[in-house]
This record gives sequence, C-alpha cells and structure tokens, in this order.
Amino acid sequence: MTSVLEDLHESYLRHFNSVPKYVAKAPGRVNLIGEHTDYNEGFVFPMAIDKAIWVAFTPNNSHLVNVIAKNFDDDCYTVDLHMLENDNAGWREYIKGVAHELQTFYGCDLKGFDAVIYSEVPIGAGLSSSAAFELAIARAFVQTNKLTWEPVAMAKAAKRAENNWVGVNCGIMDQLICAVGEKNHAVLIDCRNLDYKAYPLPKEISVVILDTSTRRGLVDSAYNERREQCQKAAELLGVKSLRDAEMKDIGQLINDEKVYRRAKHVVSEIQRTLAAKDCMLARNVTGLGELFKQSHISLAEDFEVTNEALDKIVAIANAHEHCYGARMTGAGFGGCAVAIVNKRFADEFCEEVEQAYNKSTDLTSAIYVVGAEDGVSLIVLDQ
Ligand code: GLA
Repeated sequence: MTSVLEDLHESYLRHFNSVPKYVAKAPGRVNLIGEHTDYNEGFVFPMAIDKAIWVAFTPNNSHLVNVIAKNFDDDCYTVDLHMLENDNAGWREYIKGVAHELQTFYGCDLKGFDAVIYSEVPIGAGLSSSAAFELAIARAFVQTNKLTWEPVAMAKAAKRAENNWVGVNCGIMDQLICAVGEKNHAVLIDCRNLDYKAYPLPKEISVVILDTSTRRGLVDSAYNERREQCQKAAELLGVKSLRDAEMKDIGQLINDEKVYRRAKHVVSEIQRTLAAKDCMLARNVTGLGELFKQSHISLAEDFEVTNEALDKIVAIANAHEHCYGARMTGAGFGGCAVAIVNKRFADEFCEEVEQAYNKSTDLTSAIYVVGAEDGVSLIVLDQ
C-alpha cells in the first residue's frame, strides 16, 4: 500500500469505524500548450499528472453523502441528495453540483456514500484540483449506484457542475484530460467535437512544474472578460468561433485593438498546438520548446493573462541551458508555469531555477518534475 492509501484507510477507520471499500483517484493536469483555446473550439494538448485527488469511500445505501476532507478540517460534512441547495459552501459545492448533474443525466435519485478525501494536487495553483475533485466524486457516485463509467460524458457533466453550480465559466479541457489522461502521454484534444488522441512524451525530456506561489481568485472576472472578447472577435469576423478564423482574417479587427490581440493569440495558439503535435511525433524537442516560448509571449503580450511572477519564472527557466522551453500554463493571472527540460539535468534545473526565483523575488517557488498519468481510476480495496 502507498502511504496515501494507508493514511486514508486510517482516517476512514477513525471517522466511520469501518474500512473503506473503494478509492476513486482523479489526477490533476498540466497543459503543455493550447491555452485559452478550449472555449474557442480549438485544440489543447494537456497531460494528466501524477498528483491526484483520492476519495476513499463505501456506499451507505442512503440519500446522504458524509465526507471528511483531510486537507481542510476534521469535521464531517453531510450532503442530502434529496435537498440539494447551493449555500456557497466552498469545496462542498462541488459534491452537490456533481450530484445534481448526475441525477439529471441519469434521470434517477442517487444513493450516497461515506468518504474521506485527500488532495495531493495543490489547491488553487492552476493544476485543476477542481476538475479532479469533480471527477473523483463522479467516479464514487457511479460505483455506488452501479452505473457505467463513461469518461467523456462524465467530463461533460463535471464541466456543467462547474459552470452552473459553482459558477466558474471554464471550458472542457480540465475535466476531459482528468477523465481520459494516459500514462507517459500528452493528449491532443479537439475541443470542437471532443475527439482526442494520446501522443507519447519524448523520453529525453522531463516536464517540470514551476509554481510561482501567486494565486488567482476562483471565480475570475478577467477570465470571463477574455471569453467575451473572443466571442466578440468571432462575431465581428462572421465565424462560429475563433477556431474558424485564419491569421489573414484578423486584420479586420484592428479598430478594436484589444479584441484584435485576443484573436491573434487564439488563432496563433491553435496553430502552435498542432505544430507541437508534429514536434512530438518527430521527437523534435527543440522545436517543441520554441513553441512553448512563443506561446508565453503571446499570452503575455496579446492575451494579457500573465503576471509579473509568471513572466519572471518563465524568463529564468528559459535562460537555463538545459531548458528547451517554458510558458505559463492554465488560466494564468498567477499559478504555475510549465517547462520541458533535458531529463539528465532535471534536478539541477529545478534547484537552480528555484534559487534564482526565490532570490530575485520575495516569493518562494515550488519546482518539481511531474509524470504523465492515467485518467480517473477506481481501486477496489481488499477487505
Ligand atoms: C482554465 C479553464 C480551462 C481553460 C484554461 C485556459 O484552466 O478551466 O477550461 O480555458 O483555463 O487554457
């Protein structure tokens, strides 16, 4: 047993006086490239990471979900599946939102479970702890109610929970990669039709997370504003979404400079994402790194979603001799960057970038290598 499993087992025994039957495990994600393209029906290229949210649970044959979240406090929180109401109760709303969506999707009342939850995914760092939580809870409901696990349908339901219940207007990337991730692979997702295909990561690189330790708010008005500007650009160009626009068209938007620059980022980022897939296939890690660098510049200058800390950590990483390329990842405005580096020098890279960043800011970074993992899974525990 790993130590996370042992810990969960011990907590569950202490709180519920019995042992858990199952553990649902849902990974966080890092997006390699394709930023702010999902809600424009473009391509994204994320991977699920080897840090997950774990839910140890046993069906309780009632309409109640009793949960303890180890990251927060030791109190048991109960959700009544017959009386789902939004009380703005932070992380607890994810459980209600997912329950609500699944009851609608399956058209039946769900039965509940007793659970202890633990997150290895840093919360609010831009590595999709929310999507992982939603999918882990969905997996627990599906097992408890003897339903069939359908990864794409569940990702869509989780996204609806986040959009409609929690009130975050995110795209589909986070939930989908959490559901369909593949070990040692990044997954290219077409956000128009949700087709996806896994590509092996080049063996000679390590993927490194560079956490600036700056954070963005959960319900982000700047994110929604970017979505609206993209929508406006598509309308002005007479296309359904920016997926259908080409670089040569966007000059028409120049009268509204902001809208023009937003569109320029999205259209070029979609091209970079497809180019990244070609580099991945050709094992061209230098080319891939170049695309990372270009992506960051575009996100900083045209999409304007970086902050000083992200720009700083990316500059430090890109200046390192063993780094192929670094860029901010996720929604931006804080959180993490991602770098691909020569595997043989990954430890050295992490140490040196961390020192340089901490010295030149009054912030403390967390810099670490992540592996690509499978999407949501269920562990049946020996009784
Ligand atoms: C957040 C959202 C995603 C996506 C990214 C930006 O992570 O949840 O849907 O839009 O930002 O690429």
